[in-house]
Amino acid sequence: MLKRAVLLGAAAAGGAAAYYYTADIDTQMEMASATGPLVRMLDPELSHIIGIQAAARRLLPRDTRPDPPALHTKVFGLDFPNPIGLAAGFDKNAEAVAGLMGLGFGFVEVGSITPKPQPGNPTPRVFRIPELKATINRYGFNNLGADAVQDHLLAFEAAAEKDPALKRGPLGVNLGKNKNSKDAALDYCIGLTKLATHADYLVVNVSSPNTPGLRALQGRKELEALVNQVKGTRDRMVWGQSGPPPLLIKVAPDLNELDKRDIAAVALACGVDGLIISNTTIQRPGEVANYPAAQEAGGLSGPPLFAMSTGVLSDMYRLTGGRLPLVGCGGVASGEDAYKKIRAGASLVQLYTVFAYEGPALIPRIKRELAECLKRDGFTSVADAVGADHPDIRRHNSSGKSSAAQAGSKKGWLW
Ligand SMILES: Cc1cc2nc3c(=O)[nH]c(=O)nc-3n(C[C@H](O)[C@H](O)[C@H](O)COP(=O)(O)O)c2cc1C
Repeated sequence: MLKRAVLLGAAAAGGAAAYYYTADIDTQMEMASATGPLVRMLDPELSHIIGIQAAARRLLPRDTRPDPPALHTKVFGLDFPNPIGLAAGFDKNAEAVAGLMGLGFGFVEVGSITPKPQPGNPTPRVFRIPELKATINRYGFNNLGADAVQDHLLAFEAAAEKDPALKRGPLGVNLGKNKNSKDAALDYCIGLTKLATHADYLVVNVSSPNTPGLRALQGRKELEALVNQVKGTRDRMVWGQSGPPPLLIKVAPDLNELDKRDIAAVALACGVDGLIISNTTIQRPGEVANYPAAQEAGGLSGPPLFAMSTGVLSDMYRLTGGRLPLVGCGGVASGEDAYKKIRAGASLVQLYTVFAYEGPALIPRIKRELAECLKRDGFTSVADAVGADHPDIRRHNSSGKSSAAQAGSKKGWLW
């Protein structure tokens, strides 16, 4: 009896695999996403590990279709086939870059990476709120450290040299600090020195709620000193004709008016190339508070973060006068959400949590819906729609060269 059940199971799995490998890409994406309910029966950290390993072994579908021309965009001098990126934290160790790019993301950000390996916080440290497609995590920068990540990035580069189509879009490297490090700036500089030559853009993450003291680096004086030191380290390295990779700062959504003004002022004055807005929140907005997981310490992500992070994005667009490319992140679940981020001021959009819930099929769907939103409202490109909810700022910038939507220099608009 058992033998027959095993044989039947194996035959069904074999049949599904044969069907999968001969199916068109949309069907493959749907089939990969259909494993979601099964994966969700597992502990969230374990399902995350399985997802990364599946992507690392290129078991996920590979979408080689070109993106609609309206989605192509150029930001900080880099070409993005589409503006939808995978946010940091999913592939912390750069183990699965080729597999993840193959899903059709316009760019992938790896990290956060600390100079030394560290285990992060004790488990359990990730908690789902499936009803809201939300997550609370307190991973605490568990990662293999900059040396191991450098090896992974070298392996990716070697693979992409053989098959250039593997590198579908830009690769971001997100840097963090070790928990016990006394000198945060030194940590970012060490990470940068090891990894910058492998990055199309760099991110200084000062916004994780799970590393004690990290968010204090968003204060005016602290941020100014940090940016100057990190930028100085980057600029002292030897760069070819294309120059150094742009430097972005990733900020929290939990900022008051003064915090936001300070960050905008430092970013503009110190020649930061862009801001990622935002990381997870320590707040428990709306109905989140009704779920038992809300009691867990950590950062909340997914749709309940959308309104808050888009509000901060919009504020930062206003405070930077639309002159700094912004990456909108937090709660994106559809093309309409991505479009709202773009209208609020984002030149690029990232997501993590809803992708983890919905799987590969979400990416082509978001791109299709975003292209439809642009067309519906008469925009011929993503850049056309950036900041559309701020007509006064766009009008003001349209005569100058400093609009983020027009930003073309890899060295940043200020230089
Ligand atoms: C489990 C998990 C781990 C994360 N780890 C990192 C990280 O290491 N570095 C970072 O900058 N952001 C990290 N993030 C934040 C995401 O990059 C993103 O900013 C945030 O989740 C909001 O986007 P979302 O609502 O689409 O998930 C993490 C998020 C989650 C859910």
